[in-house]
Amino acid sequence: MLERRPDGVLAVGQTVSLADVARDPSMGTPSYVYDLDAMAGEARELRAAFEGAPHLVAYAVKANSAAAVVKTLVAEGCGADVVSGAELLLALRCGVLPDQIVFSGVAKTDDELDRAVLAGGAGIGAIQIESVEEIARIAARAKAAGRVARVSMRINPGVDADALDTHSYIATGHDEAKFGVPLPSVADALDRLANAPELRLVGVGSHVGSQFTSTDAYLASARALFGIAKDVRSRFALSFVDAGGGFGIDYGDGCPARPADFVRATRKLQAELGLGDLALYTEPGRSLVGAHGTLVARVIQRKISGDRRWTMIDAGMNDLMRPALYQARHRIVPVVLDASAPVRPYRVVGPVCESSDDFGLHDLPDGELREVAILDAGAYGYSMASRYNGRPLPAEIFVRGGAVVGKNARRPPEEWVEDRLRAGI
Ligand SMILES: Cc1ncc(COP(=O)(O)O)c(C=O)c1O
Repeated sequence: MLERRPDGVLAVGQTVSLADVARDPSMGTPSYVYDLDAMAGEARELRAAFEGAPHLVAYAVKANSAAAVVKTLVAEGCGADVVSGAELLLALRCGVLPDQIVFSGVAKTDDELDRAVLAGGAGIGAIQIESVEEIARIAARAKAAGRVARVSMRINPGVDADALDTHSYIATGHDEAKFGVPLPSVADALDRLANAPELRLVGVGSHVGSQFTSTDAYLASARALFGIAKDVRSRFALSFVDAGGGFGIDYGDGCPARPADFVRATRKLQAELGLGDLALYTEPGRSLVGAHGTLVARVIQRKISGDRRWTMIDAGMNDLMRPALYQARHRIVPVVLDASAPVRPYRVVGPVCESSDDFGLHDLPDGELREVAILDAGAYGYSMASRYNGRPLPAEIFVRGGAVVGKNARRPPEEWVEDRLRAGI
């Protein structure tokens, strides 16, 4: 866990000081520091909520694709939800069994489908069908491979976007959304599946959005999904229902529902609707890793003009895009706290030449401040990072058992320059 020590230093598990990480040239800043033990704990807590019933926690690799993170969750019995051929390859390289992989995405290429169909002895656990039109293409790849591919039908329950209570960019279950088979097209999809001997429908699924802080929208989607599942299983031998991901975390403004609450409520509904014999799949990303990653940044400059105060740091929107993209707020605190220093609101901004490179106003001490910690940055942080403005990707530091057990060092600027020069013209 990330804790403030009595000496005022923020540390992972009391022993890995974020100040040491920041000031060690082999790590430095900007650096993501991940608490692998805490991530494993999240997976254990979530899996316990299934009380031994058949299930799969398919970790959404897109949230944090560091192999050390994926392997930590695999060791806790998680599978993987992947959304590209590369994520599929990574999951397999991290030891995820092909059976425990579901592949979502509205525009899977033939190459990616081939990787999914040919993985292991029988292909992956399920290719999520995201449109009626995609069925023929998947069937053609399975036929070309001489295999029967397991598929799941991702439905779009068409829930009201406002009822989803999340940012519109991460709402995925309303009519306008590009994801999933719309309800009016389900019957057509099932007819096509019934006439596709190369495909075996093993599940139905939905994923309606992300960062849900209550179970309401998730349960509304599950109810629609389970209604469909009851009809579908009269024609197809289903083995699972996949209620998706979306469990929120507390970014500082509260998140009453724990991931386990989502699972318990969904299992109860599943039983009430007579589907308790089917395995329950979930696809959590953020909730397993989000709270257990901290972005450590060095203070480069402070600026005061009248009652406006800025703190410029060496981490920016290229390292953590969420504030710029979703207007998301992350708590920002000093790495070393001098409790006697007067505190005032400072606008914390990054080095990128965009006004959207802004982490918002945060109460920070006046005077000397060497480093800050951007909290709850373990999900959709590094995985969305870029090298905009020629800024190298940040470092990643992996902590387990109170020690640094791995580093993905920051790339030297020269690497970006060589990449830009690569075309050789
Ligand atoms: C299909 C699918 N499953 C799972 C997830 C993971 O969502 P979260 O990180 O909110 O749990 C996403 C996120 O976008 C998704 O698109």
